[in-house]
Parts: sequence; structure tokens; C-alpha cells
Amino acid sequence: MSLSKWRKIRAFTVFSCIVTFTTFLFSYTLRDPSLYFFKYAIRKSDSFFSKGQCGCRQCMTELEDDPWFTERFNLSVHPLMSRRNSLLTDDTYRWWQWLQAEQEPANFSEVVEKLFQVIPDADLYMDAGPERCRTCAVVGNSGNLKGSHYGALIDSSDVIIRMNMAPTSGYEEDVGSRTTHHVMYPESAIDLDNTTSLLLIPFKTLDLQWITSALTTGSIKHTYIPVQSRIKANKNRVLIYSPTFFKYVYDAWLESHGRYPSTGFLSLLFSIHICDKVSVYGFGADQYGNWHHYWEENHQGGAFRHTGVHDADYEYNVTLLLADKHKIKIFKGF
Ligand SMILES: *[C@@H]1O[C@H](CO)[C@@H](O)[C@H](O)[C@H]1NC(C)=O
Ligand SMILES: *[C@@H]1O[C@H](CO)[C@@H](O)[C@H](O)[C@H]1NC(C)=O
Ligand SMILES: *[C@@H]1O[C@H](CO)[C@@H](O)[C@H](O)[C@H]1NC(C)=O
Ligand SMILES: *[C@@H]1O[C@H](CO)[C@@H](O)[C@H](O)[C@H]1NC(C)=O
Repeated sequence: MSLSKWRKIRAFTVFSCIVTFTTFLFSYTLRDPSLYFFKYAIRKSDSFFSKGQCGCRQCMTELEDDPWFTERFNLSVHPLMSRRNSLLTDDTYRWWQWLQAEQEPANFSEVVEKLFQVIPDADLYMDAGPERCRTCAVVGNSGNLKGSHYGALIDSSDVIIRMNMAPTSGYEEDVGSRTTHHVMYPESAIDLDNTTSLLLIPFKTLDLQWITSALTTGSIKHTYIPVQSRIKANKNRVLIYSPTFFKYVYDAWLESHGRYPSTGFLSLLFSIHICDKVSVYGFGADQYGNWHHYWEENHQGGAFRHTGVHDADYEYNVTLLLADKHKIKIFKGF
């Protein structure tokens, strides 16, 4: 074989290799403009550093997780109600109706259908993955927030959850001013601004009828006590706490202690399911052992501790365990 012929063959081989490779790449790119192949390679190298469960340094679920936590945590129970998951098992429905012993409840599925004609039906926040690092602040109402200067720290979170009658106006220095989610039930409802999501915890079928009414006709004015007949809130941001998730919190996390979980505990479990990093503020008593709200004067005697409905000690134990296992961070206040 002459030298020039050899060179020609070699040149042709190199040339056809290049053509084959670029054709492959080109058709790959056409088929998948997102260049999945390269993204995948980059993501793989990222997750090598971040361990891959989420985009934060530490994630709610880790590869080598604590058995106490994995035994209880079930990511496939969705915290928010949608049309799709609204169907309750007989067991769940019976338990849920028993909570406030509603007499002659309306037809549940008809009530749910009417509700989702008023509020959006979306499966939100179930987007955990290697790119997400969602930070959340769960702000309880304890007097231990007074003088804490946590305001700026709370406001720096992506998600800020407050509950029941909690005001921010006049307390910004200690509790912050932003609220992305305000958790309430009809008997504890307050008006919101239109950037905040109202997260309703329903305890009975009437509560679902109430929110539908409060956003439209205002016809329901009474549950077991008089309630706000109308509520100021952005209808496009109203969310419903799922009764199935409610029961999961009670069964798996409280092991049936107390009659049902408190708003604070329900909010905490909500955040554990939708966030990667959870900070807890305003839970527990103040430095003198008093249980009161940060916006009220300090009454001696601990009126909120033993309501007979919640097992505050057991809930607090579970909350402390979550902190021990680095799933949440508790800011104790003053
Ligand atoms: C988690 O929840 C799903 C949906 O409710 C259920 O089917 C599954 O059995 C649960 N897993 C565990 C380990 O309890
Ligand atoms: C509730 O309403 C639905 C649809 O109208 C109906 O199919 C269902 O049988 C009703 N359930 C009860 C318990 O009456
Ligand atoms: C929210 O309120 C602001 C002013 O209060 C108003 O300009 C805006 O249009 C409202 N947005 C919605 C979606 O209602
Ligand atoms: C809380 O935990 C402590 C120590 O683990 C235990 O002694 C106590 O009985 C627990 N309290 C409740 C109400 O479960």
C-alpha cells in the first residue's frame, strides 16, 4: 500500500468518524432539545456533592436515614386536598367526622365538587428533587417570641407559615412581616392580604361549605359558634389541608395521643412534607413557663397548656426528636 493511499484511507476514516458523531449529536439534539444527555452528566456530578436528595446541604430525607424517622415519614401521603385525592376511605371519613361530631353532614363529594369550582385544584409543592432547596419558617404563637428579634431571620425564608389569629403588624421586629401561608379553621379565621395562601384545616364537612360560602355568598354565619361569614383572601391561593394527611399525622406521628393534633403540629408536619429545610419559631412556653400568645399580656397560669384536646407534651416530645435528628431547627426565643 502506497503512503498516499494510506493517508487517504486514514483521512477518510477520521472524516467519517466526525460525520457520524456530529450526526448522532445533531439528531440527539433535535430529538431532545434540552440536551438531556449533557444535563444528566452535569446533574450526576452535582449530586455527587449534594448527595442528590435536594439542593440544600442537608435534606429532609437522606440516603442513610434515621429508622425512627423513616418509620413515620411517608412522602406519598399528600398534605393538600385535590379533586383527585379527595376521596376518603370509610375509616378516614369516620375518624374525621368524629373529631367534632357533626350532626347530619352534607354529602361530602358534592361539597368537595362545589369547593373546587371556587378554588384551584392543583397538586402543589410535591416537587422534591436535586435542584430544590426550599427553606421554611413555621411560626407558632408563643410569648417566647417577644424580644427575640427573629423578624429578619423569619422573613428570609422562602415559605413562612403562621397560624390562627397571629398578627404581624406591630410585632415585625420579633416575628417578621411576610406570610406565605396562613393556617386556620373557620372558628379561628382572620382576613389576609392577597399574596398569602389561606390554608384551611377542615374538621368537618361544614368547614368545607364555610370556605366556599365565605369566598362567595357569605351565607354561612355559624358553625358551633358564630364565625366570619365572609373572608378577605385571594381565592386563587386557597388551599385545603387533606383529611387523609390529618389522620396520617395523628396515626403515624402522634400514635393516637390526644384527641387530635394541634394547629401548630399540623403546620409543622405540613412543612416537613413540602420543605427541604425547616426552622421552627414560637413553639412552647416562654422563659417563665407561661403559655400565652405573643400579642397578649402575660397572664400567669398557663391557660393554653391543657385544653383536653391536644397532648401538648407528646407533641413537644416529637418536635424535640425531630430537632435531635436534624430534621428541623428549633429557635427557642426568650
Ligand atoms: C404510605 O402511604 C401510601 C398512600 O397512603 C400507602 O399506600 C403506603 O402503604 C404508605 N407506606 C407506608 C410505609 O406506610
Ligand atoms: C353523594 O352524592 C353523590 C353524587 O351526587 C352520589 O353518587 C352519592 O351516592 C352520594 N353519597 C351519599 C352518601 O349520599
Ligand atoms: C392584590 O392587591 C393589590 C393591592 O392591594 C391589587 O393591586 C392587586 O390587583 C391584587 N391582586 C389580585 C390577584 O387580586
Ligand atoms: C417525653 O419523653 C420523655 C423522655 O424520652 C419521656 O420520659 C416522657 O414520658 C415523654 N412524654 C410523653 C408525654 O410522652
